[in-house]
Amino acid sequence: MAHATNQTPTHAFNPLAAIAQRALDIDASGIRKVFDLAAKLKDPVNLSIGQPDFDVPEAIKERAIRAITEGKNRYTPTQGIAELIEPLRAGVIDSTGWRDPGLIILSGTSGGIMLAMFAALNPGDEVLFLDPYFVMYKHLPKLIGAVPVPVDTYPDFRLHPERLEAAITPKTKMLILCSPNNPTGITLSAAELQAAAAIARRHNLLVLSDEIYDAFCYQQHQSIAPLLPEQCILLKGYSKTYGMTGWRLGYAAGPKAIIEQMIKLQQYTFVCAPAPVQYAALELIQTHRVDMRPYIDAYRHKRDRLISGLGDLFEINSPGGAFYAFPKAPHGLTGSEFCARAIDNNLLLIPGNVFSNRDTHFRISYATSDDKLDRGIEILRQLAQHTPSA
Ligand SMILES: Cc1ncc(COP(=O)(O)O)c(C=O)c1O
Repeated sequence: MAHATNQTPTHAFNPLAAIAQRALDIDASGIRKVFDLAAKLKDPVNLSIGQPDFDVPEAIKERAIRAITEGKNRYTPTQGIAELIEPLRAGVIDSTGWRDPGLIILSGTSGGIMLAMFAALNPGDEVLFLDPYFVMYKHLPKLIGAVPVPVDTYPDFRLHPERLEAAITPKTKMLILCSPNNPTGITLSAAELQAAAAIARRHNLLVLSDEIYDAFCYQQHQSIAPLLPEQCILLKGYSKTYGMTGWRLGYAAGPKAIIEQMIKLQQYTFVCAPAPVQYAALELIQTHRVDMRPYIDAYRHKRDRLISGLGDLFEINSPGGAFYAFPKAPHGLTGSEFCARAIDNNLLLIPGNVFSNRDTHFRISYATSDDKLDRGIEILRQLAQHTPSA
């Protein structure tokens, strides 16, 4: 060494040793593997993507651009701009019958899942959700020392009240519902929602109703919110409905006491939802220029195309919403094994174990062009018809 120092010698700083266990406990390798492979394949048929294939409607883009040029680029109030909050609150009151809910504009629905958990859960509290599940439901509770409790719904992915009831302990605090569902596409029926609401009331659970796919509902959307005026946080998002996943906008409504805590926590985390995007959302309220019905109709047709293309060869539920289906891997293969074979055939899917404690199924996203979807269906049919050697 050229220069001796009189400091006590220490080991070189090891960034890996600096990483907290809570970060290490999150395993994102399943999805990452698919993304890495997608980057390597040449023109793959990509049925792994969790966002619509359409772009943000022009009128919303124009409104966002106008907001930026008009200087709406600063922090907004933590809870969001009043011009947006008030009509959204009126909409929630109208659709749920709630009397006087609180409402917070969020940096994406993900922000709301996190803030609701941070506001409501203590270490050791248990959080119930249906398995297969959206990945955040499993990982976010762990960040605060709460305990995720997936409740198996195989093989039909319906809500089985007796299974939910059996999973409840004195520590159960929250129940998360997601309808239409990612990854199964299942939409909960009125009877299932009533059963869940009865359980929530009986056991004093706070229900987090993640309705980010509510626009992609191929029959009337139904929510648990009207059944639980005092103990539900309703989460809505713009990402999927308007193809603006990168813009980060959503909102949560619910009991004022809890929403107040979420606002306080947002102040110290996300600060506020992106300002120009909040102003752009006014377009949806103040004008009638944006009509998403043709987009949703196109997605209904894609759903039908997929189910009629695969129904005879795969064990597949008919999804009522979102843009996913969750078939069983054929030939007794695990979901991971089947997805590896699909990749060998230039088709990208997501193995079921990314969303589940089981590895028997796989997720198809039909949020793609009809041409790509047809190619994907063809590859899947070939894979199902060809019995792999042991
Ligand atoms: C069920 C569900 N909830 C929430 C989100 C998060 O959406 P965002 O944060 O873009 O609003 C997603 C995104 O894939 C999702 O599938």
